[in-house]
Amino acid sequence: MTDKPEKFIDENGIRSDGRRANEIRDVKIEVGVLSRADGSCYLEFGKNKVMAAVYGPREVHPRHQQKSNRAIVRYKYNMASFSVEDRKRPGPDRRSIEVSKVSREALENQIFTEYFPKSAIDIFVEVLQADAGTRTAALNAASVALADAGIPMRSLVSACAVGKVDDTLVLDLNKNEDNYGQADVPIAMTPDGKITLLQMDGHLTPEEFKQGLEMAQEGCRQVYELQRKALIDYYSKKTEVVTEATTAEDVKKDAPEEPEDVTPVDVTEDTEETEKIDDTNEIGVTKETDDTKEPGDTKATGDTEETEDTVKTGDVEELEDSGEEVPETGKNADETYGQMDESEEETSNE
Ligand code: CDP
Repeated sequence: MTDKPEKFIDENGIRSDGRRANEIRDVKIEVGVLSRADGSCYLEFGKNKVMAAVYGPREVHPRHQQKSNRAIVRYKYNMASFSVEDRKRPGPDRRSIEVSKVSREALENQIFTEYFPKSAIDIFVEVLQADAGTRTAALNAASVALADAGIPMRSLVSACAVGKVDDTLVLDLNKNEDNYGQADVPIAMTPDGKITLLQMDGHLTPEEFKQGLEMAQEGCRQVYELQRKALIDYYSKKTEVVTEATTAEDVKKDAPEEPEDVTPVDVTEDTEETEKIDDTNEIGVTKETDDTKEPGDTKATGDTEETEDTVKTGDVEELEDSGEEVPETGKNADETYGQMDESEEETSNE
């Protein structure tokens, strides 16, 4: 651990890391960095490095936690053992439980949880490198990851700390300022200034508190702009890729080439059986099914019934006559879905 510096701010008003009192550290935000998560974000805030992953809305396990009228939000903040100077003992401790609780509360009321009853939205944040302000950095990353997961929110949440060193208010404390300063006030807010997290360590006068709040608001506004830009950049690039891939040229280019040497088939040797099967195909098991489908209405129950009917009437008998092995569509489908349900349940129970 480094010793307490004699002065935090020099005579020119410059802090030990070269910033002025009202400046935040450099911020880097990457969206969609984890393919297994529904939404993710990697964020650097000065020397802090955090990774956030969001899963959900998904089934709640254990089930007794589920709420009938809304989704539950769970937030897990974890510091990697190698993230701090002295190795941190792995696993949850009082501090990480506290940070997880306040951070969950800071995000939860911005999420439209009522849209997803009986489900869970899980947020995981791993601190890979810590340098003071990890809870605010984690919140910023989590907020972007939620947006990336498509979770409907009232707005993004942006966070930043304000504090006091050498009797001066400073924005976004670094490690020395946090450890040896006179006050540390992490704050999270929405772009319209609603505060969703406010904690305070140390002492400030009411006047300093008011001024500090204004500084934090400006810091959060800057963070918000960066979060927004990161999301817009990421999704505009994604849209470009999709648009490119669907142009007629690309479809033609991607289509498999027609094989040139096709061995001719002797059609004269066709047996009665084959003809029957061909006829069956002409009756159009698939055609009828297609006709019954409304565009974009694939899940309508009526369609499924029609499909089953079409397969059962006549066509199947003809196929049976022809000696071909006839799949028992309905039965097999039921069994398959049954198995899927069971295996899904097994997976989710894990
Ligand atoms: O990180 P944040 O400012 O949100 O929380 P803090 O409890 O004020 O911790 C300040 C800093 O102390 C962290 O960012 C870490 O750099 C450091 N720390 C540490 O070295 N070991 C710990 N077990 C916890 C925190």
